[in-house]
Amino acid sequence: MIRVQVPATTANLGPGFDCLGMALELYNVVEIIPIPMGTVIEVSGEGSNEIPKDEHNMVYQAAQKVFRQVGYSPSGLKLRLANQIPVARGLGSSTSAIVGGVIAANLLSGGKLSIKDIISLASSLEGHPDNVAPAVLGGIVVSVQADGEVKCLKIKPPHGLKGVVAIPDFPMVTKVSREMLPSQVPFQDAAFNVGRAALLVAALQQGDLSLLGAAMEDRLHQSMRSSMIPGFKKVLAAAKLAGARGVTLSGAGPTVIAFADSNLELIARVMGETFRQNGVKCRVLVLKPSP
Ligand code: HSE
Repeated sequence: MIRVQVPATTANLGPGFDCLGMALELYNVVEIIPIPMGTVIEVSGEGSNEIPKDEHNMVYQAAQKVFRQVGYSPSGLKLRLANQIPVARGLGSSTSAIVGGVIAANLLSGGKLSIKDIISLASSLEGHPDNVAPAVLGGIVVSVQADGEVKCLKIKPPHGLKGVVAIPDFPMVTKVSREMLPSQVPFQDAAFNVGRAALLVAALQQGDLSLLGAAMEDRLHQSMRSSMIPGFKKVLAAAKLAGARGVTLSGAGPTVIAFADSNLELIARVMGETFRQNGVKCRVLVLKPSP
């Protein structure tokens, strides 16, 4: 039996659309067990009622992709999925399925793929690397697809930094959330994001949390997506007032993540209250970066 644990991830970190992400201490577990024949898929925890338990399952599909690539054909397969990551909330649930399937299948079939191969294959299945790279490597990762592979570098999360995640009770499917984005953006907005993303990477690398507020601003995706999230701007403002260093949409949403190194309980409380005042039911978790 192969057992793989994959962390949740928060992508973009504000300005780093499709290239910045951080792993969080919330995990999905994939177990893959060879059986004499057939396919059995069991799902427990988050999404257990909605996640497909047949060949449409993303863990299964990712595993099959690896088996085809390395020339391995198991006679039968049992997948046991125990999920903590909420589905379609901007915390990398689909990435965890893809990465879990790829890594588990690679281990079962003899470990022919390198870490680099795993990141590139999983990113090609996902379409972008910003969740995949930290899900595989942990920590904070800067990643881009170039020359047919993923080039990435890991940054150790600054000491004491935690993420307060306010998770609304409605889903936002990444594909739909990406379709909301314009095909072109003004030059000034692109320049705005380049500067912030560069500053954010330097601030995280040097552990200068005082810069996160300015460095997490974004003009490429957040305003279009946040129109679907009642109270979004008020939640951001409340979290900042309560002491958050930087606050942003997590991935494609609808989760909002506030980064902080103190006042965590207060930040969690005001984010939850502000969402509820705007008619959004939500749960709030305080998560450490996954190493
Ligand atoms: N960078 C991606 C996006 C992350 O914002 O669409 C979500 O999977």
